[in-house]
Amino acid sequence: MNMIEAKGVTRTFTLGEVQVKALQGIDLDVRKGEFLVILGPSGSGKTTLLNCLGGIDTPNSGSIVVEGKDIGGFKEKKLSGYRRNTVGWIFQFFNLIPSLTAAENVALTLEMARDRKDMMKRAREALDLVGIPDKANMFPSQLSGGEQQRVAIARALVKNPKIVLADEPTGNLDWVTGTKIANLMRDINKREGTTFVVVSHDISITGVADRVIHLRDGRISDREEAAPEAKKVMRE
Ligand SMILES: Nc1ncnc2c1ncn2[C@@H]1O[C@H](COP(=O)(O)OP(=O)(O)OP(=O)(O)O)[C@@H](O)[C@H]1O
Ligand SMILES: [Mg+2]
Repeated sequence: MNMIEAKGVTRTFTLGEVQVKALQGIDLDVRKGEFLVILGPSGSGKTTLLNCLGGIDTPNSGSIVVEGKDIGGFKEKKLSGYRRNTVGWIFQFFNLIPSLTAAENVALTLEMARDRKDMMKRAREALDLVGIPDKANMFPSQLSGGEQQRVAIARALVKNPKIVLADEPTGNLDWVTGTKIANLMRDINKREGTTFVVVSHDISITGVADRVIHLRDGRISDREEAAPEAKKVMRE
């Protein structure tokens, strides 16, 4: 069963007289529980595609159907519910709030209506899931890059989203740490059944993917391409 079905998605940005065709007709199905990696060079449209899939940006044409529902037809309230509850985001720059501890950063994502004790409990469980339960009371400046990315992953997962959209999740990490983060996301994908769409230009992430596709100039090229070299590197 497909979690996401995108058909003919285009997105053009107009900058004065110039039109930038960021997405030029994307057809993409993502299976439920799949770990999909989309590789593409800088400017190929990766972030734009994620923003459209996550309901942050609206395509100029085409449709995005999630669990059988066209998100283009959602009214604002439903769309914001989709953004907040169905989707979990992992950003390239961890986007942690420096004045909040790791646990508070994770808890912040939860509805403010919940009571604080319950929010912090769930935040701690999420930090446990990503392997840093002992860092709950640390501030981002006291954490390594890899630990900050774990906090960002915990934040994406704390609401049990069906889909995680990750933008260059290993882009700011050294290779060893990046590989650990890739494996962590894969473990969570397997354990929780969460669908992952990861965009990157870092081929080391392809080693954990169910499927790798390539984005170039806003178009998908060579679909279903395996990445044997990267898999080999990952095992060494
Ligand atoms: N808000 C915007 N206004 C104008 N142009 C934009 C906007 N967002 C993206 N673009 C343009 O669309 C194209 C695709 O951008 P996008 O950010 O999706 O690329 P990317 O693949 O994520 O690149 P990177 O790897 O550098 O993050 C680029 O040419 C970019 O300049
Ligand atoms: Mg980008």
